[in-house]
Amino acid sequence: MSDATRILVAGAAGSLGRHVLRELLHRRHGARALVHRRDLPSWVDDRVEICRGDALDASVARRVCDRCDVVFSCLGASVSPGMRAGRRSYDRIDWPANRNLIEAAEQAGVRRFVYVSVAGHDELGHLRYVGAHEDVVRRLEESGLEHAVVRPPGFFSAFNEVFDLARRGWAPIIGDGAARTNPIHDADLAVICVDAIEGQDRELLAGGPEILTRRRIAELALEALGRSPRVRQIPPAVVRALGRAMRPMNPRVADIVAFYAAVSVRDLVVPARGDRTLSEHFRGLAR
Ligand SMILES: NC(=O)c1ccc[n+]([C@@H]2O[C@H](COP(=O)([O-])OP(=O)(O)OC[C@H]3O[C@@H](n4cnc5c(N)ncnc54)[C@H](OP(=O)(O)O)[C@@H]3O)[C@@H](O)[C@H]2O)c1
Repeated sequence: MSDATRILVAGAAGSLGRHVLRELLHRRHGARALVHRRDLPSWVDDRVEICRGDALDASVARRVCDRCDVVFSCLGASVSPGMRAGRRSYDRIDWPANRNLIEAAEQAGVRRFVYVSVAGHDELGHLRYVGAHEDVVRRLEESGLEHAVVRPPGFFSAFNEVFDLARRGWAPIIGDGAARTNPIHDADLAVICVDAIEGQDRELLAGGPEILTRRRIAELALEALGRSPRVRQIPPAVVRALGRAMRPMNPRVADIVAFYAAVSVRDLVVPARGDRTLSEHFRGLAR
């Protein structure tokens, strides 16, 4: 791949997107960044062409894909369970916005499309959060585009809210906390995403180096703060009921809470690709 390859990063100002931009610049690529409401970090320089717009608008998708060789998308509604992170859910953002990008990429003659979905889709595909991502994957498969799908379990950044609760003195776990997973640092995942942009793989399962129980994750957050473990168990049925009750007020929160209720009580372990550990990440947040 030459330095002149034109790469669109959709979702560029998000948790993963900004790491992908940094990794692209590190490997001497330029990029076009689609940003929506959030701004890019201050280290972004003039090798990045910034386009602001809403990919739910097909004309925006066409404009940003124009003359691109590769489209990378980690665009989606927030995975935060907080009410302030938006009301529109994954089937009204992730699916239609990424469909617009795929259609625009087809029209623009884009060579390769890389999309970030979710690991565990076989078992969790019935949940709306996962289903919206898999609708995008199916549309990508139907397209004539050469493509890759990156499938991580949780990103470290998604555990920052566990850390914030630990700061307030308690760390919640859904169920008994025995289910295991291997989350990955967003920066490590960005390396795999750029490998996917540059390479020819079709599917990349990408987890972190440590397999941890959900209880251990909560304990690590408390330990980083120098607190004795005070993990609180919440029955999965209570979390599911909470999610259902949220639906009229905030469909996105209802969908992500339903996902967290399901994913927290089953093992989700994928091949280890990252190096950074979650305890290091929590210690960094504590500093
Ligand atoms: N976090 C995890 O643990 C995890 C695990 C597996 C998979 N994933 C998936 O990986 C992807 C990236 O996750 P992330 O945590 O980096 O998400 P994020 O921080 O919420 O970033 C998503 C980006 O998409 C942008 N966006 C949303 N709607 C848009 C629209 N209509 N037009 C243009 N841009 C739009 C957002 O911009 P604004 O904020 O400015 O609106 C944001 O910059 C998501 O699809 C997520 O579901 C995440």
